[in-house]
Amino acid sequence: MRFAFLWRLMNERELRLQPRLQCIADCVPGGARLADVGTDHGYLPVYLLRQGRIRSAIASDINAAPLAHARRTAAAYGVTLDLRLCAGLDGIGADEADTVVIAGMGGETIVTILQNAAWDWQGVTLLLQPMTKAELLRRWLVGHGLRITAERLVRDKGTIYAVLRVEQGQSAPLTRAEAWCGAGLGQDPLYGDYARDRADKLTRAAAGLRQAKTPDDALIASLEGDAQALRETVKEWEHANGT
Ligand SMILES: C[S@@+](CC[C@H](N)C(=O)[O-])C[C@H]1O[C@@H](n2cnc3c(N)ncnc32)[C@H](O)[C@@H]1O
Repeated sequence: MRFAFLWRLMNERELRLQPRLQCIADCVPGGARLADVGTDHGYLPVYLLRQGRIRSAIASDINAAPLAHARRTAAAYGVTLDLRLCAGLDGIGADEADTVVIAGMGGETIVTILQNAAWDWQGVTLLLQPMTKAELLRRWLVGHGLRITAERLVRDKGTIYAVLRVEQGQSAPLTRAEAWCGAGLGQDPLYGDYARDRADKLTRAAAGLRQAKTPDDALIASLEGDAQALRETVKEWEHANGT
């Protein structure tokens, strides 16, 4: 009796996503057949199913405990998730999804997942949200027949994250500023803060490297060059936006 009451209560209240996940949810094409790789809690696919925004959802994770969490989330909100215990896209066929989300992981892990996937990405929308090393991910994508078609920024608990929309296709090599801060983000109100933050990080990293017993001068010069390129981009952005 009590369980039935609790179950009904859970089903009646809607799942609310944190801003980072909400931003990704907003980027998912309507009617998508979704694969959420590294789903953990499963909030994203469960939210999208509850909203009727997607046709189906595969939720995968490399670890059993997060997958069990996703199973509980789906049960609590009365939706069906197709759960897969696998590394990256290893257990998901390219014919099973047209939209793949890989979010909340480091840029290097996302690259490894894409590298290991036996998909040709034709007709697939990738939504990638790196927690670190976004610049490494952007450079890798562009060098491997994948095109960043759009980016969005979102602030969540004081940190700004980039969400990349990616499709199969060629694009021009990225400039330094584009690799660090994304391309086509000039209209995004968070762009100035994002680019300034990146430039500060690069300057701090270069200063840290200078303290080493045998400083790597080439790396330091490269980081400082990137920081300088970003500061110039920010100046241009501020000028264009009247700030
Ligand atoms: C921090 S959580 C992110 C959860 C969710 N995607 C989000 O953005 O909030 C990262 C999840 O990715 C899973 N993970 C890490 N490496 C993975 C891989 N190579 N393949 C599949 N899942 C992976 C972890 O087990 C963990 O549950």
